[in-house]
Amino acid sequence: MAHHLLEGKKGIIFGALNNKSIAWKVAEKAHEEGAKIVLTNAPYALRLGEIDTLAQQTGSRVVAADATKVEDLELLLKEAQEILGGKIDFILHSIGMSPNVRKKRSYDDLDYHYFQQTLDISALSFHKLLQTAKKLDAIADYGSVVALSYIAAQRTFYGYNDMAEAKSLLESITRSFGYIYGRSKKVRINTVSQSPTFTTAGGGVRGFDGLYDYSNRMSPLGNASAEECADYCITLFSDLTRKVTMQNLFHDGGFSSMGMSERVMGFYNKCLDNNLPEEW
Ligand SMILES: NC(=O)c1ccc[n+]([C@@H]2O[C@H](COP(=O)([O-])OP(=O)(O)OC[C@H]3O[C@@H](n4cnc5c(N)ncnc54)[C@H](O)[C@@H]3O)[C@@H](O)[C@H]2O)c1
Repeated sequence: MAHHLLEGKKGIIFGALNNKSIAWKVAEKAHEEGAKIVLTNAPYALRLGEIDTLAQQTGSRVVAADATKVEDLELLLKEAQEILGGKIDFILHSIGMSPNVRKKRSYDDLDYHYFQQTLDISALSFHKLLQTAKKLDAIADYGSVVALSYIAAQRTFYGYNDMAEAKSLLESITRSFGYIYGRSKKVRINTVSQSPTFTTAGGGVRGFDGLYDYSNRMSPLGNASAEECADYCITLFSDLTRKVTMQNLFHDGGFSSMGMSERVMGFYNKCLDNNLPEEW
């Protein structure tokens, strides 16, 4: 049920690759809530063509931009303002990719060129977006910018690899730029730290099924879905959260505050009963 929370607002949504993407769900909800949006993704992702379906469904235009390229971001921000007819009220940064994860390089055998690409795509792109937007004065006063993060920024999760460093950097940029942009234009900047979610990026993490199940058993409310994440992002884009900024906001069913749950303990004890080999 729509609440008209974004009536009259203009937004840019990065990262809708297919209908599993968190950004896809955010775009659908933003449209339902009355926003006008521009969709964007890297040129290689647009060639897959799925985003056109979303564009039709939400009556929005698609503008290509590689988020690691400042010149692409400049063109995007200018074009989006022309298309939408004014300054931007909200932006979703839903971008993540690690060539080391893709090429199955382990954390103690990283390729450093890939590592730099991981940081550039998944974290520095956020700084580039914010810096470019500020220089162009593209975001309206009290605008809201949200990027998606994961708890591996704070704690070690086997298999998350160099994306952990990328998420730490992303959250740090959120605080640093949140101050700079908040002070000058009242723009708020936050990250949402989401539960494991079955998407193209999520599925790339080694042992993702186990991570998903563990996190679900550990969380009193269970894992948060992509749709639920989209609902939360909408509240952050709305006027109901005008004084929330520089935060990493956990959207994870309670996982981040847990140490051990009954369900995980039961599961673990069952494994012990089955006489697992010593090294486990
Ligand atoms: N899926 C999960 O378990 C999970 C959990 C927490 C946080 N997140 C984060 O959510 C965000 C969205 O991921 P998702 O799970 O929806 O997966 P996804 O694969 O659907 O989305 C990732 C997007 O990043 C885009 N991208 C990659 N390189 C780019 C570039 N150079 N320029 C512009 N866009 C580029 C891809 O085209 C894709 O659309 C990511 O930041 C991810 O780390 C995901």
